Amino acid sequence: MDLYPLIKPLVMRFDPECGHKFAIAALGLGCVPKPRRVAEPVLATRVFGLDFPNPVGLAAGFDKDAEVVDAMLDQGFGCIEVGSVTPRPQPGNPKPRLFRLPPDRAVINRMGFNNKGVAAMAKRLAARPKRGIVGVNLGKNKDTERAVDDYVIGARALAPYADYLAINVSSPNTPGLRALQSRAPLVEILGGVREVLAEIAKAGGRRPPLLLKIAPDLTADDLADIAAVAMGADLGVAEDETGVDGLIVTNTTWSRETLTHPNKSEQGGMSGAPLFAASTEVLRQVYRLTEGRLPLVGVGGISNGRDAYLKIRAGASLVQLYTAMVFDGPGVGAKVAAELAQCLKADGFAHVADAVGLDAGASA
Ligand SMILES: Cc1cc2nc3c(=O)[nH]c(=O)nc-3n(C[C@H](O)[C@H](O)[C@H](O)COP(=O)(O)O)c2cc1C
Repeated sequence: MDLYPLIKPLVMRFDPECGHKFAIAALGLGCVPKPRRVAEPVLATRVFGLDFPNPVGLAAGFDKDAEVVDAMLDQGFGCIEVGSVTPRPQPGNPKPRLFRLPPDRAVINRMGFNNKGVAAMAKRLAARPKRGIVGVNLGKNKDTERAVDDYVIGARALAPYADYLAINVSSPNTPGLRALQSRAPLVEILGGVREVLAEIAKAGGRRPPLLLKIAPDLTADDLADIAAVAMGADLGVAEDETGVDGLIVTNTTWSRETLTHPNKSEQGGMSGAPLFAASTEVLRQVYRLTEGRLPLVGVGGISNGRDAYLKIRAGASLVQLYTAMVFDGPGVGAKVAAELAQCLKADGFAHVADAVGLDAGASA
């Protein structure tokens, strides 16, 4: 039974960051009831060489330090993305830095990559039994000048524990980070990380798939550049290779369109329901630009199975959510997965992969 509606009035009275801390503590202590397991064959899918029991993942930012990975897998998510993690621990921006906008079902955050650093994360991930799919989202320290150095450190430290690595150049709360999405810095960062992963593979280690997470606030030219580099342009890749193994589309937005709550004037990245349309449109464009040849993870404003289904039809092979949990509790992942299975079956699909990109429109 979902107890969240009963405790929600209490949780909503907490300051949002305290609410988050409370949730992490309760999950860590095993106090959060597990929803019924969603074991729907229609949801099982293989993407970038990994077998996902369902395509609904937990987006980065909730479990920044990999403290509740197993508890979140038990909540029914098909995959957990931890981080963003930076090489050195850092406190993030001054508080308050997280704001709810309940009538809009949105959140604004300017956390600024508060986290305990890569060594602490490696220790935590090494200590847990290997189960489920865990992606690691890499960020950079605020005061690092050469961004590539931080992503290389993160990749080297965490590749042994990560089912996939995601390069985050799209959070709005680290000065200059989003500028790394333009062509030259992107080539430098991806080139550096690819080199480390090649070294690991050469030494007999496993090379985790490499993903890139992008912002929703990009021009058509930016998107074309990102798609080209993601496909391998300027990276000197072999003919049968791409620059990355997938793209995560999208992070939070600068936009404040349609918001009604007074917290709309807070600085930071906005997420939740009002991000859905814009992030899905970017997803559709990226699917077209990459001609459906690169797996995409659709993120932004998903709060029910239909939202997830629309992302998949727009081009996502996998989806993720975060903000819906702020309003509906941690069991929302299982609810979205169960509803998605219903949507797929109602339209006659036997496998979620068969629905990917059906509404993306013609290839560019
Ligand atoms: C409080 C908060 C912290 C976040 N921190 C990160 C982060 O550290 N790294 C990252 O890549 N995305 C981060 N995100 C963005 C989410 O992963 C996701 O891309 C975005 O919130 C859109 O999805 P949603 O509408 O389902 O929340 C954060 C989001 C929120 C709300």
